Amino acid sequence: MSSSDEEGSGEEYLFKIVIIGDSAVGKSNLLSRYARNEFSAHSKATIGVEFQTQSMEIDGKEVKAQIWDTAGQERFRAVTSAYYRGAVGALIVYDITRRTTFDSVGRWLDELKTHSDTTMARMLVGNKCDLENIRDVSVEEGKSLAEAEGLFFMETSALDSTNVNKAFELVIREIY
Ligand code: GTP
Ligand code: MG
Repeated sequence: MSSSDEEGSGEEYLFKIVIIGDSAVGKSNLLSRYARNEFSAHSKATIGVEFQTQSMEIDGKEVKAQIWDTAGQERFRAVTSAYYRGAVGALIVYDITRRTTFDSVGRWLDELKTHSDTTMARMLVGNKCDLENIRDVSVEEGKSLAEAEGLFFMETSALDSTNVNKAFELVIREIY
């Protein structure tokens, strides 16, 4: 009789992470890139809430992240408090080619603070860094906002995969 199965089943962690930010910044594509290595050039706006579970191994233990994605558009959003409930990590995403989405970050942070624990691991994500030629927000601006708000910071591209795994895994590691 082996006891290893029983031992294995006890060593599991499940963390809830939420992704927030304005519509069309690439939240759903960041998640599909991370969870399924998929990107869609013609993805539709999210309606309501979706989530994906992704496992990674840290220090020999299986860690599962349940990553929640919701609509950036107000009219498509589900009940806000339910979305944030139990979350221990958050990615706040803007689009480096649209300054309005960067200007909204403060509002998203306020919403996050209203609905969640202050001990949450939070990362500011400047997505679409593959579109350098039409950049509207500098790396420095992203960095300094993150520093001022006490957030981690990374620029990503769901299209070419730059930093996508890194961003999620840094948040997950920080929680763990
Ligand atoms: P809502 O669901 O409405 O809140 O939008 P969202 O934030 O989930 O955006 P979504 O992932 O649907 O992406 C919006 C558009 O941006 C789509 O046309 C994507 O193909 C495109 N997109 C997403 N990420 C990137 C990226 O890293 N680079 C480029 N060039 N396009 C991207
Ligand atoms: Mg979406």
